[in-house]
Amino acid sequence: MVVAIDGPAGAGKSTVARGLAEKLGFRYLDSGAMYRAVALAVLEQGGDPAERAAAADIELGGRVVLDGRDVTEAIRDPKVTEAASRIAANGAVRTAMVAKQRELLSQGDWVAEGRDIGTVVAPDAELKLFLTASPEQRARRRAAELGADWRVVMRDQALRDAQDAERAHSPLRPAPDAIELDTTDRPVEDVVGQVVGLVREARR
Ligand code: DC
Repeated sequence: MVVAIDGPAGAGKSTVARGLAEKLGFRYLDSGAMYRAVALAVLEQGGDPAERAAAADIELGGRVVLDGRDVTEAIRDPKVTEAASRIAANGAVRTAMVAKQRELLSQGDWVAEGRDIGTVVAPDAELKLFLTASPEQRARRRAAELGADWRVVMRDQALRDAQDAERAHSPLRPAPDAIELDTTDRPVEDVVGQVVGLVREARR
């Protein structure tokens, strides 16, 4: 079974997806980490992003490993965040990432999180969720993770949101059959509990 969790940055996808995977004993696919790893490779080595994407050997598990190197922390750098949003607009990069993601999802049970899981990567996923939250709360969550001022984060977030929503290739939008969940002011356990219930219903 595949549970697809999409939505903008700071909507609570990672926390909910990790919590859900742990509760259900499913594997967890962080597709954003893959775009980040390719962005890091391009920043460090230069070259054509599509070629870097096709050549990159990315392992996801507890740690993110790029071509044999642990890059778990490096891919969270703000420069990488910015570059990832740019390269994620590249159609050839997306094609390479989607192929890798589909290969992973073809076996076993997964909770997969990203922007296009329900629309492009796994349109047949048994359960699709689209998480949202108010722009302020999303910025406050990201700022707490980064140790930054939430107002600054909110300004950058608006730029990245526009970039993600307006790009020609797989713009961020909910799948027609996705269930939309607003996580504003909701404790994560509450959202995970609700989603576990939705998974049980979807499996019946
Ligand atoms: O979720 P994140 O912040 O780690 O994602 C990093 C970037 O990659 C972000 O700009 C959105 C993009 N992304 C995407 O376009 N498609 C995905 N499936 C996952 C992430």
